[in-house]
Amino acid sequence: MSDLRGSTAMVEEVAAENGDRNTRRAFLAAAGAAGICYTAALAYPVYRYLASPNEMALNETAVTEVTLKDAQKLPSGSVLMFKFGTRPALLIHHEDGRWISLTAVCTHLGCTVQYEPQADRIHCACHGGVYNPYTGANVSGPPPKPLTLYKVKVNLDGVVVSRV
Ligand code: FES
Repeated sequence: MSDLRGSTAMVEEVAAENGDRNTRRAFLAAAGAAGICYTAALAYPVYRYLASPNEMALNETAVTEVTLKDAQKLPSGSVLMFKFGTRPALLIHHEDGRWISLTAVCTHLGCTVQYEPQADRIHCACHGGVYNPYTGANVSGPPPKPLTLYKVKVNLDGVVVSRV
């Protein structure tokens, strides 16, 4: 009888030890999985941040021409904002009949610039940068470089804007 009690106690002891080990193993597996998820959650935004300039540069060079359907009907003295690839751009139909297209991304810190027909200037509201609406030259304020000019072709169906 005492042998039976002794072996039962031993079986219970081994089972308890296995249970502890299983619990410990399960905990370590769960902690490892959580650690991997946590690391991935931290690393992905960093990867996107570092990769985005490269993607942006590729997207920028991928688009070389944009056709703006019916834009030839734009009245003189007005402007049309459009996307050239991923970046905003301006198509200006000046009072004198000239068509000018430029990137709408300020060369200072990248704000979107606006054409102001009353003042006949391109203005950046972020820090007061001003550009020439015909050449894109930076004329006052903090912008260090001119806006990029695009080539413009007006035809019966619309306006074709392309890289110079
Ligand atoms: S971002 Fe345009 S003037 Fe600073």
